[in-house]
Amino acid sequence: MAKVSMTVNGKSVSGEVEGRTLLSTFLREGLGMTGTHVGCDTSQCGACVVHIDGKAVKSCTTFAQDVAGAEVKTIEGMANADGSLSTIQQAFQDHHGLQCGFCTPGMVMSAAALLADNPKPTEAEVRHHLEGNICRCTGYHNIVKAVLAASGQDVGQIAAE
Ligand code: FES
Ligand code: FES
Repeated sequence: MAKVSMTVNGKSVSGEVEGRTLLSTFLREGLGMTGTHVGCDTSQCGACVVHIDGKAVKSCTTFAQDVAGAEVKTIEGMANADGSLSTIQQAFQDHHGLQCGFCTPGMVMSAAALLADNPKPTEAEVRHHLEGNICRCTGYHNIVKAVLAASGQDVGQIAAE
């Protein structure tokens, strides 16, 4: 076991981890931050996506020790300072971008990273960017719509599912 320290949602945290401890495990079991979901543990579903130094990363295939000193952001850190939903979260709610909600934290984190890099993505770019995020409810249409709406684009041409 070794001590690892990092910043999570603006707060300094530390804990004891094994070399094999995954970031998703550290967040969920070490810090009790269960908003980051684990749907496959094999880097396929994207439910576990968090930001590490501003980049979307699958935390189920990232060792906690490798993140030492980094700035991590999870879904728990996505709301505005006053507790209201961030633009991307509000767009998911407004456009019904979720059904069971299991994939939603990863979708939101991936989408937020996309919009940070590309504030006005096309529908094709959104779909391409979210290829690493699986929604088992197959609710992709409204997820894409929510991301486009969050970017301030007119989604009137995209028919509701
Ligand atoms: S739990 Fe990480 S990609 Fe599925
Ligand atoms: S909303 Fe059900 S898996 Fe995505």
